[in-house]
Amino acid sequence: MAPRPLIAGNWKMHMTLVEGAKLVDALGMALAEATPKPACDIAVCPPFTLLAPLSEACQKYGFGLGGQDCHAEAKGAFTGDVAAGMLADIGCTHVIVGHSERRSLHEESNADVKAKAAAALAARLTAILCVGETESERDSGKAEEIVVAQLLASLPDGATAANMVVAYEPVWAIGTGRTPTVAQVAAMHKAIRAALDGKVGDPAGMRILYGGSVKPGNAKELLSVENVDGALVGGASLVSADFWAICSTC
Ligand code: G3H
Repeated sequence: MAPRPLIAGNWKMHMTLVEGAKLVDALGMALAEATPKPACDIAVCPPFTLLAPLSEACQKYGFGLGGQDCHAEAKGAFTGDVAAGMLADIGCTHVIVGHSERRSLHEESNADVKAKAAAALAARLTAILCVGETESERDSGKAEEIVVAQLLASLPDGATAANMVVAYEPVWAIGTGRTPTVAQVAAMHKAIRAALDGKVGDPAGMRILYGGSVKPGNAKELLSVENVDGALVGGASLVSADFWAICSTC
C-alpha cells in the first residue's frame, strides 16, 4: 500500500507572527469544515521565529510543525544556529535538512546534511531530506544517477519510513514556475525508491515528496505519479487558499 501522503509547506524567510498565525488558523478552519477530510498529513515549516508561537495551534489542528534547518551538534558555541533538540523542545515534529538553498547558499555538503539528518533522528524529529539536480545536471542526462548518489551520501544511519521523508526537488524547478514532465518525475521517484532498498527501514513505506513549483493547478497531476507520496511546497504554501487547494487534491 502506498504511504499516506504528506503535504508540507516551506515558508522559507517569509511571514510575520500575525501573518503566520492567520495562515495556520485559516488552514485549521478549512480542515475543520472539510468533508471528506483530505487523505494526507499536513505540516508547515515556518522560520525559526514563528515555531514556538505557532506550536500550540499546529498541535490543536493536527498539523506537523517543522524547522527549516538544524545544527548537527546537540549544543555548543555555534552562534546563530539551532539544535534539533531545541526544535523538538518547542513542539516541532519535523525538520527540513539539505534544502538546495542551504546546499548552495550555505555550501552544505552531503556529509553536513547527513550529520544534520542524524541529529534530527536523535532528537526524534522526522527529517525531510532534500535532494535534487541542477539544470546542467539534468541536461547531462545523468539526473537520476546524480540524485541517487546525493541521497545515498546524505542518508543518516537508522533512517526508517517512520523517521525520515525524502523530498526530490529539482533545483531548476524551485520558484521558477517550471516543473519536470510526469515521466521525469516518475523516473526519478522510481530511482529514489530503488536506491532506498536495503539502505533504510521499510523502504516501500518511506514517503518521497516532490517539490518545485507545486501549485493548485498542477498538484493533482504531480501527486498522482507513482511513488510521489506528497509535496514540499514553497511559494504556494504562503497563501492559505492555494496551500489548502493542494492539500485537498489528496
Ligand atoms: O521547499 C520548497 C521548494 O523549494 C519549492 O519551492 O514551491 O516555491 O518552487 P516553490
